[in-house]
Amino acid sequence: MARDLRIALLHGPNLGMLGRRPTQHYGQFSLFDLEQQVRAWGQERGMRVGCFQSDHEGAFLEHVHGLSGIVDGAIVNPGAWTHYQWSIRDALEALGAPFVEVHISDVEARGAQEPHRRISVVRDLALTAIWGRGLDGYRDALDALVTELG
Ligand code: DQA
Repeated sequence: MARDLRIALLHGPNLGMLGRRPTQHYGQFSLFDLEQQVRAWGQERGMRVGCFQSDHEGAFLEHVHGLSGIVDGAIVNPGAWTHYQWSIRDALEALGAPFVEVHISDVEARGAQEPHRRISVVRDLALTAIWGRGLDGYRDALDALVTELG
């Protein structure tokens, strides 16, 4: 089991609204529920998970800057920023720790109607990307980080 790994769980815009967003894409759980569950899964794996969400690009960037040298890895759901926000990509590049890109909904399938959802400006930097698995995608992300960071 991985021991005492420090993992940041980062959410971008509108993800604080989970529970009130379209349930066919995002289920019924709140961000609080999600964070509690990921913390518990992390604990089972010997990981300490610190959580942060912001709707504000600058606040998000400054938070990521402050994590450099502090965390061993990250799980990032950048929300809509995924599809166009190059400053988020630059901040994640500077983080210098492996991160997993996670989307609750199936952005590939949704891309048939909304092509922008198939674009990710962070994907090539990510250890791996997971989408369409709801809450379980975050457990898969923890497992990918355990494998990477051992
Ligand atoms: C999302 C998918 C994005 O396209 C969307 O803008 C979000 C959430 C997801 O978790 O499925 O806000 O990242």
